[in-house]
Amino acid sequence: ALERPIVGIVDTASDYNPCHGNAPQLIEAVKRGVMLSGALPMVFPTISIHESFAHPTSMVLRNLMAMDTEEMIRAQPMDAVVVIGGCDKTLPAQIMGAISADLPTVVVPVGSMVVGHHKGETLGACTDCRRLWSSHRAGDIDAVEIDLVNGRLAPSVGTCMVMGTASTMAIIAEVMGFSLPFAASIPAPHAERVRSAEASGRVAAALAVPGAPLPGAIVTPASIRNAMVVMQSIGGSTNGIIHLAAIAGRAGHPVDLAEFDRIGREVPVLVDLKPSGEHYMEHFHQAGGVPRLLAELSGVLDLTTPVVDGGTLGDRVMKPEDMHAQDVIRPLGRPVTGQGAMAVLSGNLCPRGAVIKHSAASPALMRHTGRAVVFESVADLAMRIDDPALDVSAEDVLVLRNAGPRGAPGMPEAGYIPIPKKLAALGVKDMVRLSDARM
Ligand code: FES
Repeated sequence: ALERPIVGIVDTASDYNPCHGNAPQLIEAVKRGVMLSGALPMVFPTISIHESFAHPTSMVLRNLMAMDTEEMIRAQPMDAVVVIGGCDKTLPAQIMGAISADLPTVVVPVGSMVVGHHKGETLGACTDCRRLWSSHRAGDIDAVEIDLVNGRLAPSVGTCMVMGTASTMAIIAEVMGFSLPFAASIPAPHAERVRSAEASGRVAAALAVPGAPLPGAIVTPASIRNAMVVMQSIGGSTNGIIHLAAIAGRAGHPVDLAEFDRIGREVPVLVDLKPSGEHYMEHFHQAGGVPRLLAELSGVLDLTTPVVDGGTLGDRVMKPEDMHAQDVIRPLGRPVTGQGAMAVLSGNLCPRGAVIKHSAASPALMRHTGRAVVFESVADLAMRIDDPALDVSAEDVLVLRNAGPRGAPGMPEAGYIPIPKKLAALGVKDMVRLSDARM
């Protein structure tokens, strides 16, 4: 068997990572695909990062995971590699590592969770987590009910099913050509996910030969621009541009923030998913997933970029005869919002740029003047935000300092500053919040 081409398969299953709960099943499927194609699968572990349990911040661990992935690919004999992951930092870390290790790579996302339900309402992690937690803080939902909701927000294995970082990066991986068509959107528990993993194993086996395309050939200025266009059109996570910069950097390419801002003014949000819209990832899949989105965006994308299973992105554009009526992926002429999801801001507070996901912001707060209520650190925020004596009103601007790349360390998602309890109790749902953290 050792004379056959070897396909390494990265195992990121972990009891601490429920998002990767189906990884063992996907590994078996990839192995099957590799063996059916005559190659030898070799599974090996790397670290696994789950957003909820990563201390001090998952962003610090992303870089450690990228190094771990890169060095283990390089350290062991293999001719191609399949990386299986999905929880926010995982796919960026794995793609970063694979680019540097410079071996043919297929990305297999674990897939997103299916939706949950509570009192007739459809729920998804984590947009609804934050909303319902705010209602609990405001006293509208009691402790017993929030416990029940907790159990229903994440009803299956898989990644958060809103257009958060995990969904954004899985879509970016597919658009850049690292994974197979529909790999980003098939829900984690579906049988289709297993078949896609098996097909990915077959593709990896075909790549385990001399001269096969390397990840560096997939990450090009054109595929990076495509990723930026898609990020704007899906209402992607603000983390996406941070990860894209790191991925592009591994391939020696810059990400131009001014270009990202320009694209955002030209390409509107087309995908009606939370937090910018209404639906969830399984609905995006039912609507046609990335191939359908490519059809809507074909006029603004470079469709000549290569994809991992051969051919170009253009080969993956959904054909008109395969399209059905749906309302989750809109045409350019009938967008969810008039502009893209994100804008790049600059000014005296952020001379090197800052990112806002204005598609998910309250329109009434887009232009605002108010007093700054300043917290010096995440600890200071935790200590004082709910203090009944805090001098704060709904018109103030909440500012969190020293939570950036150096401060926390690693730029935690602490920028989603909670509404002070006393204001939440008065029905305040949104305020201008500003920080050097993420979100
Ligand atoms: Fe893993 Fe959200 S916690 S994707």
